[in-house]
This record gives sequence, structure tokens and C-alpha cells, in this order.
Amino acid sequence: MLRLMEKKLSPVVISTALGLGGQGIFPYTLWPAYLRLIKAVRETGAAVLTKSATRHPRQGNFIPANPLTWKYIQRLPGCGMLNAYGLTNKGVEAAAPRIKKACEAGLNVIPNLYPEFAKGTETAVRETLEAAGIYQKALGADFWALELNFSCPNSEEEIRENAAQALTCSRAVRQQFPDLYLIAKISICHPYEFARQLESLGVNAIHAVNTIPYDLVFPQGPPSPLAAVNGGGVSGGPAFAQAYRYNAGLRKFVKLFLIMGCGVTCLEDAKKYRDVGADAVSICTLALRNPREAERIVREYGG
Ligand SMILES: Cc1cc2nc3c(=O)[nH]c(=O)nc-3n(C[C@H](O)[C@H](O)[C@H](O)COP(=O)(O)O)c2cc1C
Repeated sequence: MLRLMEKKLSPVVISTALGLGGQGIFPYTLWPAYLRLIKAVRETGAAVLTKSATRHPRQGNFIPANPLTWKYIQRLPGCGMLNAYGLTNKGVEAAAPRIKKACEAGLNVIPNLYPEFAKGTETAVRETLEAAGIYQKALGADFWALELNFSCPNSEEEIRENAAQALTCSRAVRQQFPDLYLIAKISICHPYEFARQLESLGVNAIHAVNTIPYDLVFPQGPPSPLAAVNGGGVSGGPAFAQAYRYNAGLRKFVKLFLIMGCGVTCLEDAKKYRDVGADAVSICTLALRNPREAERIVREYGG
């Protein structure tokens, strides 16, 4: 309980853009502006939400060492990105020591876990509890919070369908780890009622929203270049208007700590989220496309 009182979520959080371990992604780490952003994050104590790990290693669409898969992450005009990364990662046992190192280096890192509901609810819940146990053992007092990613699949139908499983999973984590600060990351495809249910079962914070399915952002446009893998998710500038509308509406439904994000490309966007009641603002794409502006936001709102 003491940890909860000591550590709080910062008014700005960096989501995904510092990688699975929270210390930065190669080759971005060769870029001075990105390194300056990391320095600002460390100095302000801004929280770093990691890229999602799964309990066990998982091969997604994007494989860093395979250039044929680089098409799964693309740039869009207006400081945007389209990705169908597909959660490639080496599992929680590999992520935990990296996160520990980042914490020791002075970063305030919160692991993000993707429960694999496609394996069935029982397995996904068991794996989620195992993962939390692994983080607890590896990170000790630095494991004060956990983000559960309930919003990654790229098709609208898949995302909506996971709500019941997500509630079961959150309830189980709440019971087994009563002092853990639990963040649920949701999608624009989830009804507001889902957020209210998460709140009533004791989730501490909602992070809304993850990338937006391509077809929702460009309903009239040409088909997604990633149509073969569900279309991918849009982030950054092209996603802001829809994400902002969703978040402004969500604020009226829930009282808990609300991290608003998706689409922030400048200080003014962060201010717009704060003006409609964001307790914190999250940044991902901007940190990769324009780390200098991301640093400005981190320095402005501090940790
Ligand atoms: C290349 C890429 C990979 C991402 N991977 C994850 C992930 O593993 N887990 C997750 O919860 N969100 C992931 N996201 C979503 C971001 O954390 C963020 O919620 C989303 O991009 C919207 O915010 P933004 O417009 O500031 O980028 C990813 C985003 C991008 C661009």
C-alpha cells in the first residue's frame, strides 16, 4: 500500500515508444533528439509504459531482423503511423530483467502485458497472473503498477469481443494483487460501459485509446496497405480527432484516473486532452516521429 502512496502516475506518460524494456528502441537510440527525450523522461520522472509483452514468446508480423516484415510499420502523413506489429516479443521472462535495468537507471517503468485471450479465458488469466508474479519477483518494489493491453487486435469485431474476458482477467489480477496499481488500456471500439465495469471492479486507471483500426479512420479512402493483416492500427495525427471525441465522452462516464492519448502531435493537443479532463496524457508516435516536440510536452507538464 505504501508504494501506492509513494508512486503516482505522472501527468505525461510515454507509451510503447521506449520499447519492451523501457530504455529506448534501437536504432532510434542513435538519434540525439530521441536520447534527449529519454533524458527528459528520466529527469521529470514521467512514467514509461512499455511495449506489450506476452507471458510466453510470440512471433507477430513485424520481426526487427527481417526487412520483408518492415512494411508492417509505416509512416502516414500528418505525423501519423500505421502498424500491424503483431506483438513480436520474447515473453515476460525476457522483458522483466530489461525493465529492472531501466528502473535501476532511474526510469519510472510500468510493464504492459497483453493477455492472449485467443488461447481461451482460463489460460489467458492464468498466464496473466503468472506474468504479474514474475514481474513482482524480478522488480520487487519497482513493480507498483501494471498495464493490461485489452486493445491490440486490429479488427473492430475482435476488439469488442474481448470485453467479457478482459473483465474476468482484471478481476483475477485485482484479487491476487490487491495493492497493484492496475491500468486497463482500451480501444475506441469498446463501449463506454466497458470502462465503467472496469472501474467498478477496482481497476485504478483507464488508458484510452490504443491505435484506431484503419477502416474507421479512413472509411472512404483506399483500402489499407496492410489489408492482408486486418488493416493495421492508425496512430498520431490522423487519429487525433476521433480519439479526442471518444475521450471527451468517456470522461463523463468514469471518475477514475484517465490517461488520454492517441493522436497527440504537439503541446496544444496535450492541452486539449487536459482541458477535457485528462489526468494524464500519453504519447507514442510523436516520440518516434518528432522527439523534440515530445520532449517539449514532457518538460512542460513534468513528471
Ligand atoms: C509501432 C507501434 C507499436 C505499438 N505497440 C503497442 C504495444 O505493443 N502495446 C500497446 O499497448 N500499444 C502499442 N502501440 C500503441 C501506442 O502505445 C499508442 O497507444 C497508440 O499509438 C496511440 O497513441 P499515439 O497516437 O500517441 O501513438 C503501438 C503503437 C505503434 C505506433
